Amino acid sequence: MILPSSASESIAACAVAVRAGDLIGLPTETVYGLGADASNNAAVAKIFVAKGRPADHPLIVHVSSQDGGMSAVKHFASQVPPFAQQLMSAFWPGALTLILPRRAGVGTAAAGGQDSIGLRCPSHPAAQAVLRALREVPEGQAPVWGVAAPSANRFGRVSPTSAAHVDSELGPDLLILDGGPCNLGIESTIIDCTRGAPVLLRPGSISRLQIEQACGQRVLSNEELLVQQTRGLEAENTPRTSGTLESHYAPTATVRLMGAKALQTAINMLGDVMYKAGADTKPTIAVYARTPLMKVPLAILLRRMPDDAAATAHQLFAALRGFDDVGVKLIWVETPPDALEWEGVRDRLQRASA
Ligand code: TXA
Ligand code: MG
Repeated sequence: MILPSSASESIAACAVAVRAGDLIGLPTETVYGLGADASNNAAVAKIFVAKGRPADHPLIVHVSSQDGGMSAVKHFASQVPPFAQQLMSAFWPGALTLILPRRAGVGTAAAGGQDSIGLRCPSHPAAQAVLRALREVPEGQAPVWGVAAPSANRFGRVSPTSAAHVDSELGPDLLILDGGPCNLGIESTIIDCTRGAPVLLRPGSISRLQIEQACGQRVLSNEELLVQQTRGLEAENTPRTSGTLESHYAPTATVRLMGAKALQTAINMLGDVMYKAGADTKPTIAVYARTPLMKVPLAILLRRMPDDAAATAHQLFAALRGFDDVGVKLIWVETPPDALEWEGVRDRLQRASA
């Protein structure tokens, strides 16, 4: 069932469902989440079942922005290094997830059994309204400190950026709060804060450079850190992070990334054959490109990729879903520019094409 987030009854209904140990579809500024009380291991287990996600993959716990998120962070994390605090003050509420050492016995299922926990304070007003309602309880009752919510899609598939996407994948019995289309459109930037220096686990709309400027430390990549560790005493077992699996965010159609030149060559090669096929045949190939292309046969479904990274992120997942809905077999995507602000989009497309 889809509920409008503008009605206070919808917010209340979501809070009631989470307290009762049920799942909800939760809008955030990045993508829609599939949420449950992060401290209720049985409720969290339902998320893994609904998504078809392995239970040892940790989830992100969403917290209220009351007191800058600090008391919720203290509830879940045993320690917050100074650079993590700087990142919280710079970017929360917002699209940044921090991995912190987990307080023993808290949020165990949500953390997938890891001794760390991923925390994020989302900026979407509807998400915040639900999180605040869960924190505010009558005297003597325990508040819900956080909502564990991975993206509300089946494991490995394209993340949802609208309530309708969630409904098509996990409905109709799920309570889904409709907060409109997600502003940012790709998942949060994830920084691991458990290793002494900030480590980028997943690029997002908040760039590596913005992180470095906010905390005054260089951001390492996971690979760099592994090299450092193997040179050192021992290689640590890195946690399983499904958003960082090589193949993820994949539509049903096969995605291929190519440069504008290769794309034009491929289109030229198909051109003659496809013109003969005519315009009324169902398209089997979609093209998503920034560079204007010549002589694109009408039987190819062409969608223009915006010149701007943020605009592309905003529409990316909906575009991939749209191509699947039309039933194309191939999606040819022009490789995004090799610039910092495109890092998040590039990452998602590389995984979608892996
Ligand atoms: O923007 C987002 O982050 C969205 C919205 C709903 O907030 N959530 C999201 O969640 O993308 P999910 O579960 O699809 O991706 C979470 C990523 C996964 O790759 C997970 O493995 C990683 O965060 N993660 C969570 N906790 C972790 C931990 N303790 N250590 C390492 N990675 C962790
Ligand atoms: Mg996901």
